[in-house]
Amino acid sequence: MAPDRATELFFELFSGLPRLAPGSTAGTRRALGLIPGIRPRTRVLDIGCGTGAQSLTLAQSSPSRIIAVDNHPPYIDCLNREARRLGIADRLQARVADMRSLDFADGSFDLIWCEGAIYNMGVETALRDWRRLLRCNGHVALTEVCWRRREPPAECAAFWSQEYPAIRQVSALLETVMECGYEVAGHFPLPESAWWDDYYRPLQDNVTAFRERHRGAADAQELADRCQHEIDIWRAYSEFYGYEFLVLRSH
Ligand SMILES: C[S@@+](CC[C@H](N)C(=O)[O-])C[C@H]1O[C@@H](n2cnc3c(N)ncnc32)[C@H](O)[C@@H]1O
Repeated sequence: MAPDRATELFFELFSGLPRLAPGSTAGTRRALGLIPGIRPRTRVLDIGCGTGAQSLTLAQSSPSRIIAVDNHPPYIDCLNREARRLGIADRLQARVADMRSLDFADGSFDLIWCEGAIYNMGVETALRDWRRLLRCNGHVALTEVCWRRREPPAECAAFWSQEYPAIRQVSALLETVMECGYEVAGHFPLPESAWWDDYYRPLQDNVTAFRERHRGAADAQELADRCQHEIDIWRAYSEFYGYEFLVLRSH
């Protein structure tokens, strides 16, 4: 089925970005460093990989074998092309799959990775669902947006209650993952540069160019307005929220 216009506009607005969510090579490497015993036989599943910024970092910073999944086929084609170009396609393969219904056998992976994508399912549902895919004592590394300060200004609170009401304090997130049957091996906040350098800065350029291309198209301008609002909220209130990187161990 051909994508509808709203979907096409959305993917056009987010095209060509180095990353599709806040994140950084340094953050991915730091989280990887919290996981012991990564070997050539380590099997990694990168869920919601997008165009694969973190998948490529994982492949280039470890000897593991990685399957990366996303439900948007053009992202998968893009990542497979890049893996072939870099000569790492024997260890990094991308596939189209829905994170809500992954059909890998139980215990297929030593490590599940999910940067900037677990919100699509919600942390609790995802961690409970994906657990069967992990071998005993396997790990999960994920990023999730969290409040950094209590009592955010009303405009900031209103934005998040609309966009992602599940946002919570880091302490509440840690409690949640433990209730889901995981131990916390480590966690750390991503710095503001992880939001700006490879994400909002290039996205801001995209928004400007997109507005020009779609002058007079109300639906496109409305999408650009929503995206601009998200960036503006971050610029005004970034001290109140941020991404937390969590590394978990199943038991
Ligand atoms: C915000 S992007 C993050 C992508 C990438 N991890 C990154 O940080 O650049 C979220 C990704 O989740 C994917 N996604 C959304 N719903 C999905 C689903 N049900 N199954 C698989 N992927 C999904 C989107 O296509 C998108 O690539």
